Amino acid sequence: MCGIVGYTGFQQAGPILLEGLKRLEYRGYDSAGIAVINDKRQILISKVTGRIANLCERTQDGSSCPGNAGIGHTRWATHGAPTDTNAHPHVSNNGRFAVVHNGIIENYLSLRKELVANGYHFESETDTEVVAHLIDMYYDGDIKKAVIRTLSRLRGSYALGVICQEQPEKLYVAREASPLILGVGVGENYFASDVTALVSYTRNAIYLEDGEFAEITPDSITVYDCSGHPVQKKVTRITWDIQAAEKGGYEHFMLKEIMEQPAAVKATIAPRIKDGEIVLDDIELTGEYLGSIDKIVITACGSAYYAGCAGKYAIEKICRIPVQVELASELRYSDPIIDERTLLIVLSQSGETADTIAAMKECKRRGAKTIAIVNVVGSTIAKEADHTIYTWAGPEIAVATTKGYTTQLAVLYMFSLYAAKKLGRIGEEDYLSLLKKLKSLPKQIQEAIDMNSSIDRMAKKYYNNSSIFYIGRNTDYAIALEGALKMKEISYIHAESYAAGELKHGTIALISDNQPVIALCCNQSVMEKTMSNIVEVKARGAKVVAVTFRENEKIVSLADDVIFVPNVETLFSAIVEIIPLQLLAYYVARENGCDIDKPKNLAKSVTVE
Ligand code: G6P
Repeated sequence: MCGIVGYTGFQQAGPILLEGLKRLEYRGYDSAGIAVINDKRQILISKVTGRIANLCERTQDGSSCPGNAGIGHTRWATHGAPTDTNAHPHVSNNGRFAVVHNGIIENYLSLRKELVANGYHFESETDTEVVAHLIDMYYDGDIKKAVIRTLSRLRGSYALGVICQEQPEKLYVAREASPLILGVGVGENYFASDVTALVSYTRNAIYLEDGEFAEITPDSITVYDCSGHPVQKKVTRITWDIQAAEKGGYEHFMLKEIMEQPAAVKATIAPRIKDGEIVLDDIELTGEYLGSIDKIVITACGSAYYAGCAGKYAIEKICRIPVQVELASELRYSDPIIDERTLLIVLSQSGETADTIAAMKECKRRGAKTIAIVNVVGSTIAKEADHTIYTWAGPEIAVATTKGYTTQLAVLYMFSLYAAKKLGRIGEEDYLSLLKKLKSLPKQIQEAIDMNSSIDRMAKKYYNNSSIFYIGRNTDYAIALEGALKMKEISYIHAESYAAGELKHGTIALISDNQPVIALCCNQSVMEKTMSNIVEVKARGAKVVAVTFRENEKIVSLADDVIFVPNVETLFSAIVEIIPLQLLAYYVARENGCDIDKPKNLAKSVTVE
């Protein structure tokens, strides 16, 4: 999704803006641009369709836009095609103001009409351009006043960055339902929509809240509420380091992040096991409260939703509380049956997914208590939930999530044990035994990586197919969902997941000679059943790749190919079983020459509906 950056200080702004935009590339975008104010108080604009590399070439790495203050943007088209004209920054007709914007101005059509009636003409098809003209219309020499009046007219979501010819050292920024972070330097200051764009310059950050705006000069940052009253903000130390957001010798971020999973899961679990017990300092739930709820609802989007689907089995089995897993984009509009007897668990790597935020707000409004499981510290979901449990995966750059997903699962597993103990629904012996198994997951994830070090060879066999099916039952089905999503996201191969028992109700019609079917077979309780499904698809010509343990000899002898994983406790098997499927998707995409870290049409953080 779109990204914004800004700089004002003693250095040349151009190269800093371009570097910041490069750090935001991972979020997904289709065009980019910068605006810099030069010493003649002119706003120099450069915008291109395509990659930041094109923008660097066009601006000679920023040197063709000299000046000490500027703003930059990566655009993921929503209103208007990805063209140079629609790319940001957008400028007021007289060239006085330039604006970059993330989000959507919902009432832009009526504002556009009004501005046209007032003599403004529009260059682009974007919603953003109205902001540049509105500020200009309200400007009478006082930018702050013009910004306040403009913000009061906007409906929708925005992280805005504004520069004005007449005050060449100043940046104005505003936030409503779209992330915006200010970077505090010495004699220079920054802003960005994502900390990864800031960490190579400063570790000191101020997080803006919805409805706030700020005036930034090289030596000061003043934050205001929507009426223009100053607000005291605290400076937060960013703990992520820049190496964590670099490839570290790997060909792609996705491969690096797959390999980081043992460490990420360990970082998530280990500090929360103290004296033989799971301690979730981050939340305060009593046994009495947990005993009083009717159900748990888990909501999320994409892979986070699939993490919820897998986590449901562990929570229901161990806690005996009904768990409903809902897509956030559906839940928000479904008039859900949710009240104070519902515990809502919200899963989000970024903490900024628009649908997930909206679903959470809707459920809160209906009285649900909310727990967020989030990776990005200070993100909107983390701030707005009643309680937040961080996943400690470190920055995840590849659009297709891997360590974000597995660390979410790790937290759900911990939560299930934590809640069962509070409820008194698990015996001490079982608790300690599951705790031991939980602790060994990082090691088993590493084993799964090591056992599949030659999966790239298998990818060479399957990369040329136009579709791949994934089947499984129960916990294996939850993994089929995420496995298929990984494959389609990065390799663009049609990949479908089915509950194996559903094959007969339609999908089996699609099985013919040499159709690859990946059969997930790690759940002992349904193993025989899945085996029958393997026999059925094989009888129709399918090539079956089974994912299972070495000990499952019957399955091994049935399948055409086998992917082995370590023998893991069924309740927690998803976190290990997914590893080879991530690797397979990765190598299939690589064989197909796909842009693995930045798949077409996808964005890392989907901040619009
Ligand atoms: C996008 C990403 C997915 C992610 C989903 C939810 O679709 O490409 O990898 O699972 O958003 O994101 P969140 O940040 O809320 O986990």
